[in-house]
Amino acid sequence: MTALLESMLSMKKRSDMPRKILVTSALPYANGDIHLGHLVGYIQADIWVRFQRMRGNTVHYVCADDTHGTPIMLRAEKEGLTPEALIARAHGEHLRDFTDFGVVFDNYHTTHSEETRHYAEDIYARLKAAGLIEARAIEQFYDPVKEMFLPDRFIRGECPRCGAADQYGDNCEACGAAYAPTELKNPRSAVSGATPVPRESEHYFFRLSDERTAAFLRGWTRGESRPGVRRLPFEAANKMREWLGEEGENKLSDWDISRDAPYFGFGIPDAPGKYFYVWLDAPVGYLASFRHLADRRGGIAVEDYIDAAKAAAAGTEMVHFIGKDILYFHALFWPAMLEFAGYRTPSQLCVNGFLTVDGVKMSKSRGTFITARSWLDRKLDPEALRYYFAGKSNGSMEDVDLNLDDMIARVNADLVGKFVNIASRCAGFIGKRFDGRLGGLDASATEAFAAAWTAGDIAAAFEARDYSRALREIMRLADLANQYINEHKPWELARQADREAELHTVCSTALTLFRDLARYLKPVLPALAAQVESFLAIAPLDWRGEWQPLPAGHRIEAYRHLAARIERAQIDALLEANRASLAPAANAAEVAAPTISIDDFAKVDLRVARIIDASHVEGAEKLLRLALDIGEAKPRQVFAGIKSAYAPEALVGRLTVMVANLAPRKMKFGLSEGMALAASSPDGKNGGIYLLSPDSGATPGMRVK
Ligand code: MSP
Ligand code: ZN
Repeated sequence: MTALLESMLSMKKRSDMPRKILVTSALPYANGDIHLGHLVGYIQADIWVRFQRMRGNTVHYVCADDTHGTPIMLRAEKEGLTPEALIARAHGEHLRDFTDFGVVFDNYHTTHSEETRHYAEDIYARLKAAGLIEARAIEQFYDPVKEMFLPDRFIRGECPRCGAADQYGDNCEACGAAYAPTELKNPRSAVSGATPVPRESEHYFFRLSDERTAAFLRGWTRGESRPGVRRLPFEAANKMREWLGEEGENKLSDWDISRDAPYFGFGIPDAPGKYFYVWLDAPVGYLASFRHLADRRGGIAVEDYIDAAKAAAAGTEMVHFIGKDILYFHALFWPAMLEFAGYRTPSQLCVNGFLTVDGVKMSKSRGTFITARSWLDRKLDPEALRYYFAGKSNGSMEDVDLNLDDMIARVNADLVGKFVNIASRCAGFIGKRFDGRLGGLDASATEAFAAAWTAGDIAAAFEARDYSRALREIMRLADLANQYINEHKPWELARQADREAELHTVCSTALTLFRDLARYLKPVLPALAAQVESFLAIAPLDWRGEWQPLPAGHRIEAYRHLAARIERAQIDALLEANRASLAPAANAAEVAAPTISIDDFAKVDLRVARIIDASHVEGAEKLLRLALDIGEAKPRQVFAGIKSAYAPEALVGRLTVMVANLAPRKMKFGLSEGMALAASSPDGKNGGIYLLSPDSGATPGMRVK
């Protein structure tokens, strides 16, 4: 072979070589539930990952919980938990929600990890060495009661422009004005209610105003992730130009990357009392989760993906999926951090728009603030949502509307009416008439199908994250398959003894087309595809190599129901469930809980208890520590959220009622071994808190029933 021919072959080989891609999804905050809005972006990423793998590419898909910062610290405190306990709970819930929606990461880590600390410190040290970190004193609002600096979101007051009451420290929800918290009229701390005072403190800044950063970002923004593929969506690239300014200009200001104690996060080395701001270590969590994966699994060359020089040599990619609200962090701060610390920069940002439900922002009072868990609890198919969201995703940053009636119609028409219908009309004959074995195929039908497939370019649509186009093409093919069945009418052939062979061919051909449709739908509907694989008794479907027929004589399993229609009543129940659990209860009476049986009630062991001691709990705003005698050898320790209503001294000696068989709960302040019962209005404001007490004569330990 000549050298020229050889090099042409190896060139061809190089472009055919499997890609090696590190894919990440944005890290959800640990202080909130996963809701349908979140799922838009995670489902988009998961589909892309599954598609790439079916093509034979190597993908490492990682995520983590974003665990640091003031809101999480305060939230834990409010719940009487340590931040560690709060983030551990969220980690379990988030991972379960994602898994149940088929969003499957190779690793789901946490930013509160040694790996994150390592990379955050390393990047910081290198930026410092590059002369890009600067310390300077700034003035900020400080809460003198709570003894902490207040993030803008925790300062409320009257809007300096329109005077609207109770607005956040950074912008007004009434008139849309943006301002500094120091401009608010009558400001107060949302944490303690105290009037905040300006106070000076030293902060560390990442010098984005340095001319190097703007020059780098300008080039990076315009770059391509692969030939012909823009690194940023078109709309995002425009935004970047706005943020950066004209050529030679740098409109960026330095970025404040430190926070003062008390803070839940990682301390900055050699800077006592200073912590990395949560947004510094959050994206570092991508690298950390990947490192943790590699350490667990072995065989992954981490440096080939994250070191600038090695990644360039190895040709690896790093692709981030994010929502449009966090573009600023991912398109400016993050690539600049990586670049000037010698790490590889992101190959591509895939940016999703925001979810609206029936045309408006998700709303708690309308019930459209739908949690992932409530969808599953109502026994709605997670893949119905995947299918609908995929059909709404075209790779742009446009907002995505979940129109509930449209979703029902689409899922029922496409998945049940078109796709599943193919199998349900043909599988029975194969089972009953041909002992479950397939026959020969109708080549003209499979060829027509293949030609339509090529024209549709479904793979290219998946690659470009234009899932909406991919699904339109797939449904066009499903129409072809259904037409084929309608034309050959297997149900009529089955009634004619002499047309047995034709019946066999028609059903076998239709099931082969069905197999191919399942292949194309598999990135979107992995669970349904797995059911099809076991029904057809075939190896997991992939998307490479030559097309293969299902061989004559191949034996399939008996057909079982593959997908159910969605009914409007199920959706109404879903909205009702979310309305009930999430709507602010206002002043209205609380809705009665669902009926339970006497056996359910008997599970709760209620006892008369004597409060033998009561005291304040250091650092807890709402809790009192109670020692409750219920006739046991040792009193129980119980933390009760009644501090606002009772002075501890007033409680000692009195009787109350407690739940004695509640699982003990580890709180920041110690173990809580039960629960004291008190009445309160739904919003906890109107009318205070009323501890229960039995009539006189009752003694500690008596059962209440
Ligand atoms: N913790 C940050 C991300 C750090 S990434 C290094 C964060 N968390 S989040 O929980 O608020 O959001 C997680 C992801 O969900 C983000 O990509 C965000 O844009 C996306 N979405 C949150 N609400 C959304 C909608 N209502 N609609 C669409 N996407 C939404 O941001
Ligand atoms: Zn205003």
